[in-house]
Amino acid sequence: MNNKDIGSRIQIKPSTFLNPVPVVMVTCGDMEHANIITLAWVGTVNSEPPMISISVRKERFSHDIIRSSGVFGVNLVSEDIVKQCDYCGVRSGRDTDKFAETHLTKFKGEKVNVPLIAESPVCIECKVADISELGSHDMFIGSVENVSVSDKLFDQKGAIDLSRAGLVAYNHGEYYVLGDRVGFFGFSVAGRDALNRRMKK
Ligand SMILES: Cc1cc2nc3c(=O)[nH]c(=O)nc-3n(C[C@H](O)[C@H](O)[C@H](O)COP(=O)(O)O)c2cc1C
Repeated sequence: MNNKDIGSRIQIKPSTFLNPVPVVMVTCGDMEHANIITLAWVGTVNSEPPMISISVRKERFSHDIIRSSGVFGVNLVSEDIVKQCDYCGVRSGRDTDKFAETHLTKFKGEKVNVPLIAESPVCIECKVADISELGSHDMFIGSVENVSVSDKLFDQKGAIDLSRAGLVAYNHGEYYVLGDRVGFFGFSVAGRDALNRRMKK
């Protein structure tokens, strides 16, 4: 477990250099006036109750929609919709109907009245629980009210196999599809049986 080839380090200016991060398409508005904003400043911030944070600049068209409606959807991004994801991050809903332009399919949340993206492998319905003004961005804390998962991601035993989703991460300005699995939770201390069983899959 010891990496001997440590090398030297170069100091760079302080910035949000956390990489990789998720990239998601956040949906907002209603079914008639639905918008999509691409966000990378997104995080899991609590487990019980489940909560997700999204950080949105005040000047984004979506910002006021989310603040006034008090709801948003977090739609995970797979490789097949990454181009639409990028598009939703470079065009504003002020000027464009992004659902129409991207040909993404909208459907209404089960528990939260918010449009969601049918092509997304996982859609998370959130209610705004808190807003913090941090500086450049306002951080919305969303309480997770419902999650729906594409039936294609369930294996024969009925378990979710997210490795089939082709999820995309954002790494220093570039999109990457998740690649090789190199471990699993607790694998560093797992017994040989568990290692054989899990790592073969
Ligand atoms: C990969 C990527 C990540 C982004 N992350 C954020 C973010 O975390 N917060 C934010 O306010 N804007 C972010 N943006 C910019 C918005 O998505 C962009 O300004 C968008 O056009 C705003 O849409 P709207 O005006 O319809 O709300 C990101 C854009 C891209 C392409």
